[in-house]
Amino acid sequence: MKIIGLVGSLRRNSFNRKLLHIVNDLMGDSVELIDWDYSDVPVFNEDIEFPTPEPVAKLRAAIKEADGVFFFVPEYNQGISGPLKNVVDWISRPVSFETMEKVLVGKPASMMGATMGVSGTITAQENLRSYLTFMNVNVMPQPRATISAVHTMADEDGNLNLDPVTLGFVEQTAKAFVEYVKNSK
Ligand SMILES: Cc1cc2nc3c(=O)[nH]c(=O)nc-3n(C[C@H](O)[C@H](O)[C@H](O)COP(=O)(O)O)c2cc1C
Repeated sequence: MKIIGLVGSLRRNSFNRKLLHIVNDLMGDSVELIDWDYSDVPVFNEDIEFPTPEPVAKLRAAIKEADGVFFFVPEYNQGISGPLKNVVDWISRPVSFETMEKVLVGKPASMMGATMGVSGTITAQENLRSYLTFMNVNVMPQPRATISAVHTMADEDGNLNLDPVTLGFVEQTAKAFVEYVKNSK
């Protein structure tokens, strides 16, 4: 099984990116959760939509081929980050006006998020869920993992050592999504 992971933070030491790698380990050997680097995707502008910029075409092709998409959602001002909204806008659009094919439609998707604050990214996740539902993405309703004060679970080198309760929620969501993808076929 192949899942495209999209992290809403471009920060080098992003906790949400570390979370993706923990989830990848928890999903087991039969699942590949790819940490997709979309930092080269331009800011969306309909003037440059066609011909499709190469980083966008590559991401859309990867999503089309993949079994699902997993979003790792930091919270910026109670919503999703600018980079994540930008990449979601790009992939929401048709591959071409001839086919009107949209690679996200019907695709199984899930999300989780970590914040140094206390909200656990719940508002940002609700924000993303509403966009994805509008786009007819097949979003797993639950379980969902929301992680607060994530920095208190990092060591001096920035490695993330989730406490057992948090790790349990993360594992539950990761494994539930693998089953959700299987059942969506
Ligand atoms: C512009 C901006 C806005 C933020 N707004 C919120 C917020 O509304 N709620 C919250 O819990 N954290 C907020 N934060 C803190 C982020 O959750 C924190 O920086 C987090 O570690 C970012 O994720 P990352 O580690 O994956 O980069 C904000 C951070 C930035 C840079």
